[in-house]
Amino acid sequence: MKRKRSAKKKPVVHPSGDSRYNTLDLTMKQFKFEKDALLEVLNVAQGLFGYLSEELLIYVSRQLHVPMSKVYGVATFYHMFTFEPLGEHNCIVCTGTACHVKGSDRIVQTVSEAFNISDGETTADGLFSLTTARCLGSCGLAPVVVLDGKVSAKETPESTMRKVQDVVALTKAEIALA
Ligand code: FES
Repeated sequence: MKRKRSAKKKPVVHPSGDSRYNTLDLTMKQFKFEKDALLEVLNVAQGLFGYLSEELLIYVSRQLHVPMSKVYGVATFYHMFTFEPLGEHNCIVCTGTACHVKGSDRIVQTVSEAFNISDGETTADGLFSLTTARCLGSCGLAPVVVLDGKVSAKETPESTMRKVQDVVALTKAEIALA
């Protein structure tokens, strides 16, 4: 007699194709999609996306099977979470242990000095923000930087600066032509 397979709920895969959702999924997987991992997962989500959009909160709520009211409650309780996008371009540098050991602080310092802004600040023209995150769940790729949603591995101050300067210069050129 054939045994019936138990109907285990499978986690949803985000349809956007945005690789940041894959990274977030990996984090949730590491926590076995436990509800208790909500705070950690929100922290990684903010690190990856720069802020917690409603769409992102709904996604986390669905993946962890935690009611939206609870997700929203936790997210609003902690001051480290933000719900609005920052500058036109956003560079998130991971300063978690693995990334710190591999020199992420030098990346933060270099970018910070070049744009004259500190962690969490946006340039006066609104073009660029610099933020840091505790751990983006990809420690094997340390140091990790997320620029405008694109995850880059094994970064150096020079490689990050090149990427940042390129995107900011492009936007400036577009503004000048408009
Ligand atoms: S410490 Fe940077 S990804 Fe984990």
